[in-house]
Amino acid sequence: MRILVTGGAGYIGATAAHILLERGYEVTVLDNLSTGKKKLVPKDARYVEGSILDKNAIQLGLGECEAAMHFAAKSLVAESVAKPEIYWSTNVTGTATLLSAMRAMKVSKLVFSSTAATYGEPPSSPITEDSSCKPTNSYGASKLAADNMITSESLAYGLAAISLRYFNVAGAYKSKSGWLAEDHNPETHLIPNLLRATETEPMKIFGTDWRTKDGTCIRDYIHVVDLIDAHIVALEKLVAGEHQIINLGSGTGYSVREVIATANAVLGRELPVVESDRRPGDPATLVADISKAEKLLGWKPTRDIKTLVSDTWESFNAPARN
Ligand code: UFG
Repeated sequence: MRILVTGGAGYIGATAAHILLERGYEVTVLDNLSTGKKKLVPKDARYVEGSILDKNAIQLGLGECEAAMHFAAKSLVAESVAKPEIYWSTNVTGTATLLSAMRAMKVSKLVFSSTAATYGEPPSSPITEDSSCKPTNSYGASKLAADNMITSESLAYGLAAISLRYFNVAGAYKSKSGWLAEDHNPETHLIPNLLRATETEPMKIFGTDWRTKDGTCIRDYIHVVDLIDAHIVALEKLVAGEHQIINLGSGTGYSVREVIATANAVLGRELPVVESDRRPGDPATLVADISKAEKLLGWKPTRDIKTLVSDTWESFNAPARN
């Protein structure tokens, strides 16, 4: 089966592309390299350079494909507050363009990258898929709009779809051609920032006065390989005319201080950190209820937070890809 992987030159999309190929699928990558990197695209994938807003490029990419995994998106919360129009364009119009191209090409299976940011500030924890969706930024709002669009597409045209709502993705995959490291610019995520902290530029702990057990924010970290495993199971469980929404996390919350303690233990030294003010837009706690994923997909994450930190560390220290 050939799969179109949109955003397949980015951290999560490229990891998906490599794992799909290693598991015997054929892959076409569509990416415009706005944030992705060509060197992350597997050599064995067909590659189309083009935007998710370009219907012709998508249709070219969809040739011989039976399904699409849609990762291409903008995903920085702060940027979505400052420049919302980019998020409505790439995430909403981009998904609409993909759906229209899929309809034209009669490709009727979709696995979509959604996010926990669709829920906003959850009234209770852990968060189930039935929780109310009140996104607090345009990133979450644009992904929620895309989820709603996919629901309508399934009802109207019989699309078989699953939206996977990611919690905090981290870790790295060692593909046959080397490590696929998380490499954003700017990097805003906790684990990469922590592992790259230096005495002159220590990692800032954003807020120590949250209403949590140790005053720092709690998040649910999922290893990128567990995440992609769930995508592949989802692909095989798609049902025509159905759109399922499923949370992907580990089901366990860790505070920022607990992540720091884990990283210190894995590296065998104290990483430099400083206490700082809260970051605007951060909710105190985000933890997934993953019982729907367990039940519907028969999937469970298998990699713990220590593996997640040590794989990230190894990927940072591996020789650069070319
Ligand atoms: N944090 C720090 N210092 C840093 C970076 C982060 O203290 O240098 C803290 C944040 O304040 C937060 C936690 O670490 O409490 C995690 O922050 P990340 O930036 O790593 O991730 P977020 O929880 O903000 O967001 C991520 C994804 C979103 C997704 C969300 C869902 O980036 O796309 O997880 O849980 F919606």
